[in-house]
Amino acid sequence: MRPPVTEGPSNSAPQMKPWIAAIHAYVPGRSKASDGRELVKLSANENPLGTSARALAARGAAAAPSRYPDPESTELREAIGKLHGIDPTRIVCGTGSDELLNLAAQAFAGPGDEVIYVRFGFAVYDIAARRCGATVVVAPDRDFGTDVEALLACVTPRTRVVFLANPNNPTGSYLPRAEVARLHAGLPADVLLVIDQAYAEYVDPRDEDGSLELAAAHANVLVTRTFSKIYGLAGERIGWGTGAADIVGALNRIRGPFNVTLSGQAAAVAALGDEEFVRASREHNRAERTRFVEAVSALGNHGLRTLPSEANFVLVLFEGALSAEAALIGLAQRGYAVRHLAGQGLPQGLRITIGTREQMDEVAATLRQLAEAAR
Ligand SMILES: Cc1ncc(COP(=O)(O)O)c(C=O)c1O
Repeated sequence: MRPPVTEGPSNSAPQMKPWIAAIHAYVPGRSKASDGRELVKLSANENPLGTSARALAARGAAAAPSRYPDPESTELREAIGKLHGIDPTRIVCGTGSDELLNLAAQAFAGPGDEVIYVRFGFAVYDIAARRCGATVVVAPDRDFGTDVEALLACVTPRTRVVFLANPNNPTGSYLPRAEVARLHAGLPADVLLVIDQAYAEYVDPRDEDGSLELAAAHANVLVTRTFSKIYGLAGERIGWGTGAADIVGALNRIRGPFNVTLSGQAAAVAALGDEEFVRASREHNRAERTRFVEAVSALGNHGLRTLPSEANFVLVLFEGALSAEAALIGLAQRGYAVRHLAGQGLPQGLRITIGTREQMDEVAATLRQLAEAAR
């Protein structure tokens, strides 16, 4: 017989941990207007060219879903390793790179530890740090980008993990190779540097930041990448990471055992093989991003400006009569969903994903009309 409960919590419902209660849930990019209308989604940095035909075919031909997928994502890790010259045993795949970012914080930080990221960093870092009970330390930015000096000044004996997105979301800023190396060199050997390269494939290959080399050479670097952006497989949820054997081993201990789906593994392998699709996506992005930035600069006297971006989106700052909020509403009326960043300390910013040529023309023309009307 169970003894009567005489002591213990007096709450009548389960109480979530205080550090979980402090989390603001991630706000995904919208695809619908407030009245339910479907909008063109330029709010989640997806590939406007869609998905490689080869990846789609492989996804369709994947084995029957009654079977569990390969728990080790063996073929996929081998394909990634071949493309990037990495030993597949030093690669771990995840349910999107989101899973790996969360696992990295969970494996290396806990209550009493500190996790650093730069102001205007990717929103998931805050959640990843808090959900394991760690204390978040936000380093000051420089001109909306990463200030290596300021970040290093935040390091204390309690620091366990530093998150850096390169290129960064939502600002698009990019830390060149020498700065990434300087950041790494300034960190104690027992601090894990997580370099999140979700947008790396959009960067001109000549400007690579050297992260993969750092991950290959040092015991305290984890690089994460994703199939959600240039590879056009956001819906399949596949990411990967690489680092020293002990780091990869730690993530493997705590990841979901079957964390990448059958169809996802098949599609990702084929996507890696379609270099032409990746090249075309990068070229399209570069050309349309340049045209869009030029169109916004032409409105300079209306107080709109763009931050330099190496990614597949541009952060537009509204510092004149037209507010970001009014532009958000105006764009939605014309059928476009973009990302307002008030919750991330950027009430004056809209992050706009680079879409098709026609979409970018229409967005730029709408911004012009709104700016002129707001005078
Ligand atoms: C900087 C950055 N890192 C990681 C991710 C997560 O991507 P996924 O979980 O789809 O791989 C995103 C998605 O927007 C991102 O912008």
